[in-house]
Amino acid sequence: MKIFTVKGAAGTSRILVGERLQNLSRYVSGKRPVIITDTNVANLYQNYFPPADVITIGTGEKIKTLDTVRTVYDRLVDIEADRFSLIIGIGGGIVCDLAGYVASTYMRGVRFGFVATTLLAQVDASVGGKNGVNFGGYKNLVGTFNQPEFVLCDMALLQTLPDSEIANGMAEIVKHGLIADAKMFAFLEENGQAALALDPTTISYLVYNSVTIKAAVVNRDETEQGERRKLNFGHTFGHAIEKVTGMGHGEAVSIGMAIASAVSVARSGLTADELNRIKRLLPELNLPTRFRADSADIIDALGKDKKRAGDSVHFVLLNRIGRAEVKTLPLKELKHILNEFSTSS
Ligand SMILES: NC(=O)c1ccc[n+]([C@@H]2O[C@H](COP(=O)([O-])OP(=O)(O)OC[C@H]3O[C@@H](n4cnc5c(N)ncnc54)[C@H](O)[C@@H]3O)[C@@H](O)[C@H]2O)c1
Ligand SMILES: [Zn+2]
Repeated sequence: MKIFTVKGAAGTSRILVGERLQNLSRYVSGKRPVIITDTNVANLYQNYFPPADVITIGTGEKIKTLDTVRTVYDRLVDIEADRFSLIIGIGGGIVCDLAGYVASTYMRGVRFGFVATTLLAQVDASVGGKNGVNFGGYKNLVGTFNQPEFVLCDMALLQTLPDSEIANGMAEIVKHGLIADAKMFAFLEENGQAALALDPTTISYLVYNSVTIKAAVVNRDETEQGERRKLNFGHTFGHAIEKVTGMGHGEAVSIGMAIASAVSVARSGLTADELNRIKRLLPELNLPTRFRADSADIIDALGKDKKRAGDSVHFVLLNRIGRAEVKTLPLKELKHILNEFSTSS
């Protein structure tokens, strides 16, 4: 096991990479804890949970709402949880985001920790102290910044994930390599198949490095003023593609990264050779680089993105593999490059 410590304004968080769910009780002190989990995770893993009150929520982005938060508050009142209670979210990004929000607000905040059970939650959602729920059709509109006391990342839990969930996590890992860690990118080029096979040593290395990178970026900029924007690499187009095509987040971000890399060759000094390496690695990790939709629809969705500034967008570009910068680019400049990545326009 490797332990990484994140020091944020809201507290210190220990990320335990390679710790087993079976050992969770070691991190529970004092009162009987309250576990928040979802139905899938409960069905698969509740036999490994320590003695606790268990609150089970549904699955899918639609349940990440204040209505669900209210049902959880009701249960907390029923079981007489108080400000000495420890809340543990065991699940993917949805459970962690919601459990973190509940723990940050119930009785003005109680202690909490996570067991991240998806690759995305391990490399992305559980690091950075953001939590919250969707509201009025907007993603993550209501939330707080608050660090969990611990995040346990058990690689064995990833074995039961569907392929789409592996893709979601893998895309963020590639993103971390591209914006901040050329060595991890090169490691992925060498070890892509072992990563896809979820080989524990390989995945541990990738999770640990991803956590380190995200934590470093977040530490420099906890409230998203500038540096943290780099974590949006591939996400400007990614979100637009996700919305228009209905593709999964990881797949859409993968295409977004391929597009942003192509723009980087024109605008930020990335070499054609590096672009080719990126376009080669993504498919090796079962991640797409082309989308099926009308480019105009993507540009339209991009125009509605909240990261927009007038007729321009804040766009994360690469100077080279392992180094990113944020630039403001006019929407119309992005339009023509998009056609190169569309298979049916
Ligand atoms: N807070 C942040 O910084 C941050 C960052 C990125 C994403 N997010 C949020 O994370 C959410 C997405 O997270 P996610 O992709 O983990 O989705 P998720 O939590 O919906 O999990 C995906 C699916 O996998 C199932 N699952 C979870 N663990 C499993 C396991 N070990 N085996 C089999 N199935 C399992 C879940 O029940 C669910 O059906 C989004 O709501 C997003 O906004 C937050
Ligand atoms: Zn993402």
